[in-house]
Amino acid sequence: MKQVNLSLHYLVYDLPGDLPVADQELLKFATEAISNAYAPYSGYKVGAAVLLENGQIIQGNNQENAAYPSGTCAERVALFYAASQYPDVSVKAVAVTASTDKFRVSDPVTPCGSCRQVMAETEIRFGSSIRVIMRGETGKIYVVKGVNNLLPLMFHTDKLKKYIHETDLD
Ligand code: THU
Repeated sequence: MKQVNLSLHYLVYDLPGDLPVADQELLKFATEAISNAYAPYSGYKVGAAVLLENGQIIQGNNQENAAYPSGTCAERVALFYAASQYPDVSVKAVAVTASTDKFRVSDPVTPCGSCRQVMAETEIRFGSSIRVIMRGETGKIYVVKGVNNLLPLMFHTDKLKKYIHETDLD
């Protein structure tokens, strides 16, 4: 038996103005996208913006449903829409933020596991890392330079292929 330690990295910015300009812009689009969120059940409105390699920006927001699991997060709405419209264009960055009438969202919105898995698959599909910019309404901003920093030991497409190891033949 041995223990394996993994390390992941995220950048912490104090203010949006400290971010690279492209990140600031994408975060603005994500904030704007909050207004079209449909979140009558949680009241937690999330906005996402996806920057494509061709410079196009796709906005998304959470879309909830009375049958709760049928709803979808903002990030996946934006990523799936991007893939449906621009299937051959890679994703460079995703920004995500949220607000609610119930309290001030002062912590960065860190994507759920399903959205991380979809981001990771998008990286694999295009062979390029996705920068993820995360913020609440206020407070610090987190940035990761690739989804491996959000989803270590992910379920990888390779796992769907059958490998025959020598030990399997014993
Ligand atoms: N939600 C997102 O849209 N993105 C996230 O990163 C976290 C959660 C949504 C799902 C649901 O509509 C609401 O926020 C509360 O979980």
